[in-house]
Amino acid sequence: MLRVEDTTAVEFPAALISKCQEIIGRYPEGRQKSALLPILHEVQAVFGWLSSNAMDQVAEMLNIKAIEVYEVATFYTMYFLQPKGKYVLEVCRTGPCCLVGAEKIMDYIGEKLGVKEGEVTPDGLFSYRGVECLAACGYAPVLQIGPEYTFYENLTPESVDKLIAELKGKM
Ligand code: FES
Repeated sequence: MLRVEDTTAVEFPAALISKCQEIIGRYPEGRQKSALLPILHEVQAVFGWLSSNAMDQVAEMLNIKAIEVYEVATFYTMYFLQPKGKYVLEVCRTGPCCLVGAEKIMDYIGEKLGVKEGEVTPDGLFSYRGVECLAACGYAPVLQIGPEYTFYENLTPESVDKLIAELKGKM
């Protein structure tokens, strides 16, 4: 959901601005809007998510309306419109995964992390959310973790415990 109420000002660092300009330069004059998706990725990589203010600045940069940025950012699930944890556990909640317990796995993750879907743990490490079919239905239930989109299959509460412990251990 778009957090239009978020008005926190963000300042784009010089390196981000020059990266955006380099991306814009890849497209012919008048076609700058084509740079929108890669620029949103760059902005998200810097701030962790896309605030309304950040999206407004992208719109200005591309000389397009803010709504044109919002409609793209809200369409693609790889863009985050609210703060997220360092690790986002994206649990498939489509039919085949649900048939073998995906919803219970999501509940278990929520209980273990002590947060609701979309919230961030106080240490900033984790959030989780349900996503649509990850095309690994034969290994259901399944979750993925970006940005490399590593898959974890045949999930059980025990394997979730192990995964979370491993991720914490990386700190
Ligand atoms: Fe879960 Fe396809 S339904 S991976």
